Parts: sequence; structure tokens; C-alpha cells
Amino acid sequence: MKEDLLYLKEEALHEIEKSKDLRELNNIRIKYLGKKGKLTTILRGMANLSPEERPAIGKLANEVKEELEQKFFQKGLELKEIAKKIRLQKEKIDVTVPSKVILGHKHPLTLVLDEIKEIFLGLGYEVVEGPEVELDYYNFEALNIPKDHPARDMQDTFYITEEILLRTHTSPVQIRTMEKKKPPIKVIVPGRVYRSDEVDATHSPVFHQVEGLVVGEKVTMADLKGTLITFAKMFYGKERRVRFRPSYFPFTEPSAEMDISCIACDGKGCRVCSYTGWLEILGCGMVHPNVLKNCGYDPEEVTGFAFGMGIERIAMLKYGINDMRLFFENDLRFLEQF
Ligand code: DAH
Repeated sequence: MKEDLLYLKEEALHEIEKSKDLRELNNIRIKYLGKKGKLTTILRGMANLSPEERPAIGKLANEVKEELEQKFFQKGLELKEIAKKIRLQKEKIDVTVPSKVILGHKHPLTLVLDEIKEIFLGLGYEVVEGPEVELDYYNFEALNIPKDHPARDMQDTFYITEEILLRTHTSPVQIRTMEKKKPPIKVIVPGRVYRSDEVDATHSPVFHQVEGLVVGEKVTMADLKGTLITFAKMFYGKERRVRFRPSYFPFTEPSAEMDISCIACDGKGCRVCSYTGWLEILGCGMVHPNVLKNCGYDPEEVTGFAFGMGIERIAMLKYGINDMRLFFENDLRFLEQF
């Protein structure tokens, strides 16, 4: 009987070791330790032993049982661990795989920005970004807007400290780009900007702009006009007429504003264009020599042009939206139309 027990132990240990999953392990447990299991059967046979033999065999049987229990327990833990690894492997999700199903809609501002980016990328521009919390130096000073300059009043500024503010336009990224890169430079800069304006149909303390900057040898006003006319026709359609009006910005000289013929009335005059037939869509100009100097460039060697436009305004004109607040209220009845 002692041999039977030792043989059974070896046999069981071997099978436990070989088992590949929890189900198989459980079947082995039933085979040996279950009610009709091999060990149980042997133990039943103990009734036939003489009283002298019984204690030694009984002790051995208990030891075998304990050792097997122990082994089942350990193997169980091992298999559980393996099962968990396999499950994790199977459940692994690659969040970078593009989705096949597109849920929801792009926000109209995103749609407009995507389209603007697409046009300028096609013209060889690079998209760059800059900080929204900005230094007075980049937002004003380096852009030729000194402390006492009246143009500072044009932009009601959220100051954080005397020197730190929320940028009032994307123009400071012109300076940051010129500091970092060497000409030729061709960038557009989309981003959020802030002004302490009251909310109404055409104002919001947070809105979006796209800035453009081109710097290189012999860049001229003709390049500016050619580029912006191309953009206007690609974005608003070939039939749009375009005009440039002289304007003033401290960081460009000369400065201009670009208008397109009114989308609503095609130039005849209506409420949308205040009966002028024209809609202003951006500010632009030749980069002021002082701005180039502030970035360590020699205005005799390189020149540039810049432009800036408000995305909300452009989206409102494009989609015929008459209230800027709609962009920020997240009303699904509005958003679902795009
Ligand atoms: N920064 C101006 C604004 O916020 C817009 C602008 C005008 C940007 C002329 C330019 C520019 O780059 O050349 O009103």
C-alpha cells in the first residue's frame, strides 16, 4: 500500500505539472482527490489494514494528500496568472488605429480651420503654434507696439501680471517663429486668442485666428496679393471678387485689409455687408522693418508679408451664421447641421 501511495503521488505530481489550464487542473484534482478519486479509494482500503500498519500508512496518506493539495494550489496560481496575461493580450486596444466608424460631427470652426490649413499646406506652408499665455514683449513690444502706443487700446487685454497676458492675437507667433527659424519662412499659425470683450452676436472673449507669415529674399506686396487672392478664390469660390484697402497695423508697413464681394448679395448691397457690397475678411501687410530688426534680421536683406484672420468671422460668412455665440453654446441642434 505504501508503494501504491508513492506511485500515485508521483503520477499525480507529473500530471499537475503538465496541465495547461485551470479546467484540466480541476479534472486532475477530481481524478485524485475527488469522492471517487484514486487517493480516496486507497484511503478506503485502509480499513483492511492491521492496527499496527494503520498509523504509518495513515500518516503517509495525509502527507501525500497535503503535498498534492499544496501542488494543486501553486499550479492553480500559475495558471491563473497565465490566463490573465493571455486575456490582457487579447483585450489590448491600439488607440492609435484610425476608427472606421466616425461618430458625431466636426465642429464648424474645425471644418473651416481644416480647410484653411489644407489650402496653405498646398501652397507649401508649414503649420506652427505658440503659447496662449504670452509675454507682453511678444504680444506687443516686439511687434512694434510700444507701451504708450494707441494701438494697445485697440485690443482690450487680459493681463495676468504686468508682463504676462493672454495673447490678444496670433501675431506674437510671428516673432517666436522668426527667432527660431531662418528664412525662407512660410508658416500659418492657428490658435485661440483672448480679449476682454462683452459677449454679443459678433464678440467673444475667446475666439480663434489664423496668422500667416512669409519671410525671405525679395518677398514683395505682389506676393502678398497673389497669395491672398488665391486663398480667397479657393476658399470662397472663383466667382468672388477681391479688393485690398489701405489700413493700419503697427507691425506692417504698408498695411491693408482684404475684402471679398458679399456672399449674400454678390455685391449688390444688403444687410450682411451693411449695404457696401463688400465683406472684410483679413488684415495684412508687409512686415515692418522694426519687427524684422527685433528678430535680428536685416531689413535690407530680407522682407516679408503677414496676414491675420478671425476664424469665427470667416465661418459665419461661409455658413451664413448670424450669431457668434452659437459656436460656443454646444447646442446639438446647431452642431448637427455641419
Ligand atoms: N493681429 C491683427 C489683429 O488681431 C490681425 C493682423 C493684421 C495680423 C495684419 C497680421 C497682419 O499678420 O499683417 O487684429
